Amino acid sequence: MITIKDADELQALVTGWKDDGLKVGFVPTMGALHDGHLSLMRMAKDKADKVVVSVYVNPTQFAPHEDFDAYPRDVEGDAKLIETLGVDALYLPLESDIYPDGPSVTVQAGKAAEGLETEFRPHFFHGVATVVNRLFEVVQPDLAVFGEKDFQQLQVIKEMVADKDMGIEIIGGPIARDEHGLALSSRNAYLSEAQLGIARMLNQIIHNVAQDPSDDKLQEAEEMLKTAGFDKVDYVRYKPEWNRILAAGWVGKTRLIDNCAVQT
Ligand code: PAF
Repeated sequence: MITIKDADELQALVTGWKDDGLKVGFVPTMGALHDGHLSLMRMAKDKADKVVVSVYVNPTQFAPHEDFDAYPRDVEGDAKLIETLGVDALYLPLESDIYPDGPSVTVQAGKAAEGLETEFRPHFFHGVATVVNRLFEVVQPDLAVFGEKDFQQLQVIKEMVADKDMGIEIIGGPIARDEHGLALSSRNAYLSEAQLGIARMLNQIIHNVAQDPSDDKLQEAEEMLKTAGFDKVDYVRYKPEWNRILAAGWVGKTRLIDNCAVQT
């Protein structure tokens, strides 16, 4: 596996692959990799001839009061994990390649960003769209894989790629869960054992609503989360156009999100 920091060097590598008729897959990440990320990389390996993984903690998707500084970072550990999967290139972008004029947000996310996460993290999807757009410019993949845990993010990226006619296939990877059903997330590392017990109720409670996503049941689910020990529930909502129930809430200082398909 090659580790590359320079955008021009990565572009030259990918251009060479494409000239040889190879299909290039891409998995962008913010590092602190877990089995969920690895499952996305395996999907990319199955669908492409060469796979690039990026690790970059993107400042523009964090508000000033959020956990940018505390976000877990372990590039060496990540590199070792990625290598075991046979990933071809690890891209560790330089700040100056991603934000040559400083970290100002330049890409506005579209309609898919309206509501849900945006009500609580208004900056978030513009930051994600900006960095993913820039990463796509550098990597120029044929396909890219994103986790369905961030279901709204996946819709925002699909919409951006379609709107800008980028010609990149966007693939959603199923949510990876621990043995108790908790969606894997780098932020789970913030949780104590007791908090993990509470966090694990999120998946269970939203799946209970999946058979009947009426307003009463959604409200009931919010109450159940609070009773289970959630300190705050941002939302439990049904999004019919995505056939999904999506939820976000806080256990202590850790914000968790999850979603599940509605069984019709
Ligand atoms: O889902 C993530 O890890 C990030 O939002 C992404 C897509 C890598 C952009 O920074």
